[in-house]
Amino acid sequence: MARTPLLMGNWKMYKTVAEARAFAEALGQQSSALRDGVEYAICAPFTTLHVLRVMLPAQVKIGAQNVYPEKEGAYTGEIAPVMLAEFGTQYVLVGHSERRTLFGESDQMVNHKVRAIIENNMVPVLCVGENLSQKESGQTQAIVSGQVVQGLAGLSASDVAQVVIAYEPVWAIGSGKTATAQDAEVVAKEIRNLVAEQIDASAASSVRILYGGSVKPNNIASFLQQPNIDGALVGGASLDASSFADMASAI
Ligand code: G3P
Repeated sequence: MARTPLLMGNWKMYKTVAEARAFAEALGQQSSALRDGVEYAICAPFTTLHVLRVMLPAQVKIGAQNVYPEKEGAYTGEIAPVMLAEFGTQYVLVGHSERRTLFGESDQMVNHKVRAIIENNMVPVLCVGENLSQKESGQTQAIVSGQVVQGLAGLSASDVAQVVIAYEPVWAIGSGKTATAQDAEVVAKEIRNLVAEQIDASAASSVRILYGGSVKPNNIASFLQQPNIDGALVGGASLDASSFADMASAI
């Protein structure tokens, strides 16, 4: 089945409301770069979501970078899924390597968040990927498979079909070094085969798999040419409106 390509920015802890407004205005002036039949999203700091929802071109949706999987309660500093859904948030990143390593996010917590995001009618973006030592010791498939299986645990086939999975080799994030498009395709194909085995063929055909890790305007096309890669999750290169527009027209 044809899967809708998706270009997603992950701003991490960058951009004030004023900077987000300036980005939205600049991208609005380059909106001709946005292609029909392609989905776009910016996963931004919570404080900028309102201005982005109001000012971004309608084709560019908003996403969050985290959520706490409870309806409400005494969880100081956390944001509930319903608070994001009420805002018109369409996507939520889960299990990003920075949250796994810096904030100790376990596969079990990742799975809890994935389920809570779906229960609130948003789309989870399940981030998976190996670190350099795991890559060098040939553990990439084992690590990625474990994160996928545990991240999707307990979901129905129809739920899995709507999940986005982002393969982000940790050693490629922010390093300027990408995986080769061919290596990324091997992992993406393994992920899709795993979903077929663990869930069913329909879910495997529907689930979108992104590549992330030093994606730039000059390399994004090579990833999108791969049959099992449906888009990109971009950090640094998504912070600049012209760079985002260049990638938007290349996807
Ligand atoms: O989530 C995307 C991010 O981890 C990739 O960052 O700067 O390597 O594109 P970057």
